[in-house]
Amino acid sequence: MNTLLQENISLTTEHFLADVIAGLSADTKHLSAKYFYDEKGDAIFQQIMNMDEYYLTNAEMEIFRNQAQAICETIAERDDAFDLIELGAGDATKSIHLIKALLNNKIEFNYLPIDISANVINNLEQKLPLEVPNLNMKGFIGDYFEMLSQANAYSSRRKVVLFMGANIGNMTVDDAKGFCKKLHDNLSADDLLIIGFDLKKNPKKILDAYNDKNGITSSFNMNLLSRINNQLSGSFNLSNFEHYACYDPEFGACKSYLISLVEQEVSVGEEVFSFAANEYIYMEISQKYSLDEIKNLGEMACFSPLQNFFDERRYFVDAIWKVK
Ligand code: TRP
Repeated sequence: MNTLLQENISLTTEHFLADVIAGLSADTKHLSAKYFYDEKGDAIFQQIMNMDEYYLTNAEMEIFRNQAQAICETIAERDDAFDLIELGAGDATKSIHLIKALLNNKIEFNYLPIDISANVINNLEQKLPLEVPNLNMKGFIGDYFEMLSQANAYSSRRKVVLFMGANIGNMTVDDAKGFCKKLHDNLSADDLLIIGFDLKKNPKKILDAYNDKNGITSSFNMNLLSRINNQLSGSFNLSNFEHYACYDPEFGACKSYLISLVEQEVSVGEEVFSFAANEYIYMEISQKYSLDEIKNLGEMACFSPLQNFFDERRYFVDAIWKVK
């Protein structure tokens, strides 16, 4: 292994340790959802996306599969070349439908995927040219906003930003407001944002997606404790914790917790943390929105909502907003 890579890994471990210690020292204990996705976590998340209960991925996939042409017409209404920037591109399995529609319509654009993971960008740079040979693409590895300013420096074309997968739902409503404002401030007049939201719906339907009977979501949460044990010399006894998920239909927040079943002490590195019986660790929020709330969020952040695209069951929406 080269030393740069080694330094990177120990730096990430240092951040991980600092975040875990800060989270477990807080009055209300919490762990950051960004650490769910190690190799094992990625594999469990694949299983989540394949569960019958987890409707989100399929719903948004349906929108891009069936309505790519209509989305294409909305974003290419102005007859100029643009940059299609995807924040958190993943494997681009949804956006590829839009990319193909744009190419079929002979619309001139660059595809600029941004992801924090070098692995994701490297995979896309290998895979996409095989699947769509005529695509102009350039990947950016790093923080969304830093990379967005690099993408702005890369070309002065109009920007169409994709922020899919209900990623906005992993923020509290206040954080989502701040994020949308910041996004607005990093774009220019007439740029577009395509943003995916999971809609408020029957509470049981939502809860089931985060509390499946087979315990896959539970193992996804528990895996973070295993990761702490393995990477940070933690002493979590997994059988002393239980996954608990709840959905509040009034505020639209679906939250995941791990509950300490007994009074216990757990060490992480040099630190020791005490848990009371039934004390919780707050793991993650998945915020659901109504159409009014989405419209208000866009307007608050100085966008004009242009159009909404729904799946057939109206579980999910991809909203297109224009920068005012
Ligand atoms: N955060 C994503 C979502 O809201 C992915 C996810 C699904 C998730 N189930 C989870 C994250 C459970 C943490 C815990 O859909």
